[in-house]
Amino acid sequence: MSILIRNGLVVNATGTHAADVLVQDEKIAALVTPGFPLEADTVIDAAGKYVIPGGIDAHTHMEMPFGGTQSADTFETGTTAAAWGGTTTIIDFAVQAKGTSLLSTMDKWHEKADGNCAIDYGFHMIISDVNDASLKEMEACIEGGVNSFKMFMAYPGVFYATDGEILRAMQKARETGSTIMMHAENGIAIDQLVAQALAEGKGDPVQHGLTRPPELEGEATNRAIQLAKVTGAPLYIVHLSAAQALDAVTAARDTGQNVFAETCPQYLYLSLEDMARPGFEGAKFVASPPLRPKEHQATLWRGLRTNDLSIVSTDHCPFCFKDQKQLGVGDFSKIPNGMPGVEHRMDLLHQGVVKGELTVNRWVEITSTTPARMFGLYPRKGVIAPGADADIVVYDPIARQTISSETHHMAVDYSAYEGMEVTGKVDTVLSRGRVVIADGTFHGGAGHGKFLSRELNQYLI
Ligand code: URP
Ligand code: ZN
Ligand code: ZN
Ligand code: ZN
Repeated sequence: MSILIRNGLVVNATGTHAADVLVQDEKIAALVTPGFPLEADTVIDAAGKYVIPGGIDAHTHMEMPFGGTQSADTFETGTTAAAWGGTTTIIDFAVQAKGTSLLSTMDKWHEKADGNCAIDYGFHMIISDVNDASLKEMEACIEGGVNSFKMFMAYPGVFYATDGEILRAMQKARETGSTIMMHAENGIAIDQLVAQALAEGKGDPVQHGLTRPPELEGEATNRAIQLAKVTGAPLYIVHLSAAQALDAVTAARDTGQNVFAETCPQYLYLSLEDMARPGFEGAKFVASPPLRPKEHQATLWRGLRTNDLSIVSTDHCPFCFKDQKQLGVGDFSKIPNGMPGVEHRMDLLHQGVVKGELTVNRWVEITSTTPARMFGLYPRKGVIAPGADADIVVYDPIARQTISSETHHMAVDYSAYEGMEVTGKVDTVLSRGRVVIADGTFHGGAGHGKFLSRELNQYLI
């Protein structure tokens, strides 16, 4: 099977040029001068459109157990929604429950995902039980293509790891060439603030934000950086939301330390004000770290330009408003933490291009190319080049659309961006050479997506 994508503007992280793209089976076979005589079984006209590498969302939580419930998207619904939005790879977090092993966790995540994904997928591993056995098991995880390990400085009693435990895991990461990913919030201090707020009768959703001040993200980020420095391990800060945390990352990078960070669309577009919406509406925006006061947003956009923020992922972790978020009525600490977003990351970041915050090449870099390099998928993914997987998005940069839960494909009953008008829309999506989105229709299927066994990080300084 061959497909020829004609007349488009190929946008890679490194540059933009007019070229026709020939796909043979699952791979990109050639880029040729526009109009070069080539035959193909199918021709897609991309005139006036960008031809970009499929998005890579390096931070999702499908079917994730949390606070007595689980995130609303299955691997099937979540990866289908991702495809609709021009994302052709996700890296999801397998979650070690305390008292269980990393390998049984990996098996469990394979059981959930294998045969059910519409696009390719990989896993990171969350270590919530640091002991000799799990440290040793990191090696087997790496063998199994899972070589990035998330740890938590937040959520005492659940996922929380002590500084000593983090240090030990970092030593192991250094030894094996793997990467530690950090949820950097000072959970011990936050738990005190949460208890105090509840004791004072303050139970509204906005209290979730007020009890997790940005200083405690800055502090934890800096602490993680110092632990990484002592051990020599590379460090990836997930879902960075606060200027204080970005300052710490920037300072470390300026010294040449292998520290990287991602932010998420919600921190670029939404704010603490959304958590203070009347009634219980604010619960829709409860995630950790919390949305910040608006003034943090300009700092994050700057970080994306200066490469102190390397990646934008979604931290997609949807909980329905009507049932799941209601668990926290009157007690914000019981609201399941997380927001939906996997479908709209490419569009939301494209607004950065429209507004002049990012070049079109930087848009591709932070949403596809760098995630591929950071997580051992490049050049199989993240680039339009011969030999790469034919994960290709034909993107219309001037089409207009309104984001709404009425039209989205995520299995969640609200959109955090309800009513937002955006410029740019996915036209056609190929996942490993198969057309999965075209003419406003899903042509893919659960089980098309394959597990990606990832190489070690190729992005270190
Ligand atoms: O609130 C969030 N972010 N939920 C997902 C779990 C995590 O910490 O990434
Ligand atoms: Zn986290
Ligand atoms: Zn997350
Ligand atoms: Zn539901």
